[in-house]
Amino acid sequence: MAEDQLEQLRQMRSLERRNGLESAQDRQGGARRLSVTSGKGGVGKSSFALNTAIILADMKRRILLIDADTNLANLDIMLGISPRSNLSDVITGGKFMRDIVISGPGGIDILPGASGDVEMVRLETEVQRRLVDSFSELEREYDFVIIDTGAGLTASVINYVTSSDEVVVVTNPEPTAFSDAYTMIKVISAYNPALRVRLLVNGVKSREEAINVYEGMNLVAQNYINRSIDYLGHLPTDNCVAVAVTRQSPFVLEFPKCAASIALRMTARKLLLGQIDRTSKERSLFSRFFKGKADK
Ligand SMILES: Nc1ncnc2c1ncn2[C@@H]1O[C@H](COP(=O)(O)OP(=O)(O)O)[C@@H](O)[C@H]1O
Ligand SMILES: [Mg+2]
Repeated sequence: MAEDQLEQLRQMRSLERRNGLESAQDRQGGARRLSVTSGKGGVGKSSFALNTAIILADMKRRILLIDADTNLANLDIMLGISPRSNLSDVITGGKFMRDIVISGPGGIDILPGASGDVEMVRLETEVQRRLVDSFSELEREYDFVIIDTGAGLTASVINYVTSSDEVVVVTNPEPTAFSDAYTMIKVISAYNPALRVRLLVNGVKSREEAINVYEGMNLVAQNYINRSIDYLGHLPTDNCVAVAVTRQSPFVLEFPKCAASIALRMTARKLLLGQIDRTSKERSLFSRFFKGKADK
């Protein structure tokens, strides 16, 4: 390669790095781990996680989406798929992580979580070690690991969230969702004060409405738990989201030009540009998960 081409490549790389656009191959740290959670159920976590995953895959990022909401059928219903095996099969020793990953729409990979009867946080040390090793190998192949958690304060949700590099808390403007989202932020901040928390406000009429909700949340957080949270973005109430769910297809693929798709593409770009500040050098997401403090 000619010297000037090399120089061009070097400059491009340094620009990408400055903008946080480098891929996992370029970084020692590996995949970015992003969990999506909420206080209350039904506020749009899975819609956000799945469609964001697809947008990021379209931006040439390698995405693993973990379906960690184990109590209710979640992403599989949303996509009309029925995975033949899940994390429970890795736990019982029959399969490796790699065996249970399925190809989802838009080029994303999906890891189906353990079924509801398996208590992840109560697994024996030996099993935990196997999961940690197996996942750290798998994780290397991705730029982003996005974890769609269940709602509410279970030990599994808390450990997934506090093991991540960053968390997106989803709420809508309703007082119950808002107040449960605040409780979630309070609890995860107690477990991991350094964790970056960003708010995604779903089901609004305008960006202004979302900003209002965010400002309210930030104020409460500053006053009562002495921390700030960041604004990530909003998703408008949009019939295409609900229609896509009934068609069992992601709305960004089904209706790429609808208001929700346009808003989400802007939000995903913001996510991509965000820097990560890895506070720990653990080998994999699960090695942090099992060291998590929540065990009830
Ligand atoms: N922005 C939106 N506009 C219209 N309907 C929405 C929107 N976001 C979510 N929904 C509806 O709410 C339901 C619950 O969303 P979902 O993403 O499954 O929530 P969660 O994962 O938090 O339980 C979906 O079935 C969808 O029909
Ligand atoms: Mg869900």
